[in-house]
Amino acid sequence: MHKDVERILVSEEEIQKRSKELGEEITRDYAGKTPIVVGLLKGSIPFMAELLKNIDLDCTIDFIRVSSYEGTQSSTLLIKTDLDGDVTGKDIIIVEDILDTGKTLDVITKHLLDKGANSVEICTLLDKKEGRKVEIEAKYVGYTIPLEFVIGFGLDYNEKYRNLPYVGVLKKSCW
Ligand code: IMP
Ligand code: MG
Repeated sequence: MHKDVERILVSEEEIQKRSKELGEEITRDYAGKTPIVVGLLKGSIPFMAELLKNIDLDCTIDFIRVSSYEGTQSSTLLIKTDLDGDVTGKDIIIVEDILDTGKTLDVITKHLLDKGANSVEICTLLDKKEGRKVEIEAKYVGYTIPLEFVIGFGLDYNEKYRNLPYVGVLKKSCW
């Protein structure tokens, strides 16, 4: 375990197991459709890769890069890199590392619907339900977690720890 991690919240095995279940659920829900799986850079990368292995559909993938978090405080959202492809009439599954206040995914969902998407659903590895400030829910949730600052499996603190193969709680002494 990394020295800056207080405890592991979701292990690598748990993430793999849950990603398989979610991928299978998405495969059933989107049968006959060709959704675009849209990852939010950079945090979604490990989860997106794990999830995609388990989605058995003719899907495509794309990415959006936003900046919204500095340190442990949410700040204003900017779309820094937009999608490559056209989303008109398409079914979109947004993949995200964590849903907290909901502000990021609220903006992205509206952005994609404005661009003409037919449907937009969210698949998030983690959900901090108690952190919600805007009304938004993910259709697919890996794990619901308490209001603690977590790192690993894509999640960072000042860009560090994204490469950890598990989700852990960051030691208070590292803030
Ligand atoms: P929201 O807009 O408040 O829902 O925030 C979502 C974004 O905040 C995520 O994409 C993360 O980048 C970041 N975030 C929220 N909670 C955490 C955390 O516990 N650790 C690391 N990043 C977090
Ligand atoms: Mg993020």
